[in-house]
Amino acid sequence: MAPTTTEGTSNGSAKPNNEEQQQQPAPSLFEIDDSDLTRLLEKPRPVNIERKRSFDERSFSEMSITMSPPRNNFYRMSENSSRAFDNLDGVYSPGRWTGTPRSGYFEPHPIVGDAWEALRRSMVNFRGQPVGTIAALDNSSEDLNYDQVFVRDFVPSALAFLMNGEPEIVKNFLLKTVFLQSREKKVDNFKLGEGVMPASFKVLHDPVRNIDTILADYGESAIGRVAPVDSGFWWIILLRAYTKSTGDTSLAEMPECQRGIRLIMTLCLSEGFDTFPTLLCADGCCMIDRRMGVYGYPIEIQALFFMALRCALLLLKRDCEGNDCIDRIVKRLHALSFHMRSYFWLDIKQLNDIYRYKTEEYSHTAVNKFNVIPDSLPDWVFDFMPTRGGYFIGNVSPAKMDFRWFCLGNCVAILSSLATPEQSSAIMDLIESRWGELVGEMPLKICYPAMESHEWRIVTGCDPKNTSWSYHNGGSWPVLIWLLTAACIKAGRPQIAKRAIELAESRLLMDQWPEYYDGKLGRFIGKQARKNQTWSIAGYLVAKMMLEDPSHLGMISLEEDKQMKPQMKRSASWVC
Ligand code: GLC
Repeated sequence: MAPTTTEGTSNGSAKPNNEEQQQQPAPSLFEIDDSDLTRLLEKPRPVNIERKRSFDERSFSEMSITMSPPRNNFYRMSENSSRAFDNLDGVYSPGRWTGTPRSGYFEPHPIVGDAWEALRRSMVNFRGQPVGTIAALDNSSEDLNYDQVFVRDFVPSALAFLMNGEPEIVKNFLLKTVFLQSREKKVDNFKLGEGVMPASFKVLHDPVRNIDTILADYGESAIGRVAPVDSGFWWIILLRAYTKSTGDTSLAEMPECQRGIRLIMTLCLSEGFDTFPTLLCADGCCMIDRRMGVYGYPIEIQALFFMALRCALLLLKRDCEGNDCIDRIVKRLHALSFHMRSYFWLDIKQLNDIYRYKTEEYSHTAVNKFNVIPDSLPDWVFDFMPTRGGYFIGNVSPAKMDFRWFCLGNCVAILSSLATPEQSSAIMDLIESRWGELVGEMPLKICYPAMESHEWRIVTGCDPKNTSWSYHNGGSWPVLIWLLTAACIKAGRPQIAKRAIELAESRLLMDQWPEYYDGKLGRFIGKQARKNQTWSIAGYLVAKMMLEDPSHLGMISLEEDKQMKPQMKRSASWVC
């Protein structure tokens, strides 16, 4: 691969330094001059941590949970103590610092203090300011790219910091990444879209000149050259979480952030040959960043797309440029919610309908619109589908339905209210009745079931990392527990999350916070799993904090938009 140049950046502000480029271990990565960002970071903007009705509450009805008073940085106290809670009289009870004796209903689990310490150790500084967390701090195995700050991996870290009243690192990260977005990005000779956000970045320290520089990867260094489609969506979702949590609207209102949102929207709302409102992607474009048969219209991307569209709607200013974008978002949201709720949804009734589908139907009257051949229904799905319950399937496109269950997409569907309240309850019912398969001994299966033998060979290209019930192919990922917890609280079923968290905390510290577990029940530490994987640590902390104080949910959840109701009937798509 030809070395990438940093010359000709889109805003002309990057000053490539050849000397530094030569010293860099990975010449294909982009070097960034961050003087602009440093200037911004040095100019502190007032952050109002006080809880007040944040701006998106104006447009969406509030949760019934009463908001808590401002939080203290309780967990900051753990910095110099291995057990954060041992010597404290005042306790952090759900949502408030009481200063009174420990209340009976919240006893922090002993591993919480260790988790905070591990999370703080993973913090990455840029010119003296924290800007993210490293993917894994595991010295026992090769770094590969685990020494980078991944956008998607930072989300649970960011939420943990926000929930603990420490928004600075999140603000720095959001600014840092929006600057990285504005650089020119190329894979070989091909220029990527302006709105593309990096998958990850790395801070390099030059001890001679005592200066930090940033290298970002937009897919041009990634294994398989996969495109980080989810990064931009997570960035918007996190910007809204920051705004909601702090009440500080000034960050989102900055012209740089407004432009960042618009560029991401331009990328994914552009017109093309598409016949569906869902977003067409190549394989490996999200958390599952290897070939796993998720190409087409993967549920993870569609759910994140939907959530990002809704967050963008809340964050965009109603000015000339914003208004045009807003109009397009509103139209897309309507089409997308109809499409997803109708065609991606599977329950026993829908399964039975597909089982009896006629094929080769033409015209608007077709019932089997995508010409799915009933013989393509896999055997396992008949056993997996409970009488009560349902879920959004993995993918829908012409003659293709991927019936696999994917955890992230279904949880985000609940959080974004892409799922109707009935669908959210049905997803919870499914998790409860398929507990052994989806949770087993370690939460949580990234997807279910695993592909085996011939299918594994064809679909993954014989990937030795994605063998059956390992890694992305049916492995169990502790990070997903924060998404499950948030979804459970939103759906009014927190006891499901509590059960899962208890399972996780019985092993996570002892096993040194693995990245993933292997086996049908998730009983084994993953064969190539990193230890001290930051998002396993942060995911656990976020889950704990949310369960203890459900008002935290507001920063990562969106109430149902009444305008998207009533749900249209399946057969009504041509008259909507
Ligand atoms: C693996 C995961 C990806 C994650 C990265 C860093 O590649 O598949 O989702 O971002 O590791 O932890």
